[in-house]
Amino acid sequence: MRALVAPSILSADFNNLGKDIEMINQSEADYIHFDVMDGVFVPNISFGIPVIEHVKKIAKKPLDVHLMIVDPDKFIEPFVNAGASIITVHYEACRHLHRTVQLIKSFGAKASVCLNPHTPVAVLEDIIGDLDMVLLMSVNPGFGGQKFIENTYRKVTQLRKMIDDANSDCKIEIDGGVNYETGKKLLDKGADVLVAGSFVFSAENPKEIISGLKSL
Ligand code: DX5
Ligand code: ZN
Repeated sequence: MRALVAPSILSADFNNLGKDIEMINQSEADYIHFDVMDGVFVPNISFGIPVIEHVKKIAKKPLDVHLMIVDPDKFIEPFVNAGASIITVHYEACRHLHRTVQLIKSFGAKASVCLNPHTPVAVLEDIIGDLDMVLLMSVNPGFGGQKFIENTYRKVTQLRKMIDDANSDCKIEIDGGVNYETGKKLLDKGADVLVAGSFVFSAENPKEIISGLKSL
């Protein structure tokens, strides 16, 4: 199956965001990835509801919203109302993850859980059957353009086995340091969705990079 590609707009040109969204609309991308950061869960602040609301007005791809925030339960409904199709919460930010996943689904969005590089895949053993997607961080969350963490390959293999053993159709999304080389290896290990920020937006022709990732 061809890769699914989710360009992260964290690396987009915010002086011309509409132009970058149009590029994504015309590209082979499958989702638009939004990195929401609160400056508490991660040491950076990015953007929030107003950006999602405005992009939703012109977006022709589902919005894949990655919440790098504490206490995400408070913001599930506002982000779904703003236009999110997929909501990813961090395992490390949820005291009652099963309840949070049910809350996301109750608003009609796809439920996804993200694991930081240090968090073992095994923690999802008892909830994998409830998830539409798992996002594995291949960098420490908070910034684009970081170096890919090699241990991610091992985690993809483990997660792929866990999902297959559970007869689940949960997708595996990878986020951070994705390029042609890491992307190809990740897909070979069983990943489904590649998030790419700097690799896409630092390129001369971002649309070509997206197509290249699709055809890995
Ligand atoms: C980092 C974000 C990633 C990041 C990816 O916290 O979750 O989505 O934007 O950036 P690149 O692809 O530049 O590593
Ligand atoms: Zn992300």
